[in-house]
Amino acid sequence: MDYTITRLTPHTGAEIDGLDLNRGVDDETRVALNRAFADHHVLVIRGQQFTPPQFIAAARIFGDLFQHDKREMHVPGYPEIYYVSNEQAVPGKRYISGETFHTDHSNHPVPPKATMLFPVSLPSYGGDTQYVNMHLAYDELPAETKERIDGRKAIHVYLSKFSPRELRPLSADSAQKVPPPGIHPLVRTHPENGRKALYLNPVRIEGIVGMKDDAALDLVAELMAHAIQTKYEYRHQWRHGDFVIWDNRSVIHKANPDYDMNERRYLYRLMLKGETPV
Ligand code: SIN
Repeated sequence: MDYTITRLTPHTGAEIDGLDLNRGVDDETRVALNRAFADHHVLVIRGQQFTPPQFIAAARIFGDLFQHDKREMHVPGYPEIYYVSNEQAVPGKRYISGETFHTDHSNHPVPPKATMLFPVSLPSYGGDTQYVNMHLAYDELPAETKERIDGRKAIHVYLSKFSPRELRPLSADSAQKVPPPGIHPLVRTHPENGRKALYLNPVRIEGIVGMKDDAALDLVAELMAHAIQTKYEYRHQWRHGDFVIWDNRSVIHKANPDYDMNERRYLYRLMLKGETPV
């Protein structure tokens, strides 16, 4: 198949042009796309036009769907597809899903390897999604810090009591289906590209095994301050037709709320099954 892959920064993100995923992909292209995903961590496949079932079919090029926790919130008629929208506001409050850096559903013992977004409505400016590369952030840690965090595990719950932001409460039914906390290494090794990465999520981390709360919070804050430096970032400016898939084993991300809230920002969202972080 005839398409191009172009880096978006030297370390994170690649743009793919010339593919219409609704036409399906041959085996060679599927392998190449999955390789590009593991190597570049964020893929921006331009020029797509998806109905909800077509979005699901495109996602399956990269793996099997992972069930999101907020089961009551989905695209009408498509329980698999979650959505992010600036219209999700709790009365009297502005609510932006994903407003601080995080990795998706790390409260699961086997968290999703990937998340995908496809825009339905975009504001006329702003609303970018920011990603930082957690492989590079790990690589550039001082040796002393690497030694300090080696073998340490964090406890990830649905909503940490230390979270910098609220999550929408789950319905009683969804809450019952949330699994027990994920206990994950602070440093994980990517099963496909072989690189180590920091695995952090201040929204969900409620403690570090064997550490007092204060010390654990300080350590997470120190690692986060290092990880979110602009030099590790790819910032995605949305265009209609972008199918964006990112690797939760390689990047953390956040939604940017810098746009006019009278304008609608609404994107379909899917995740893919991953593996136990090691
Ligand atoms: C998310 O955190 O999954 C959503 C990111 C975004 O809306 O840009």
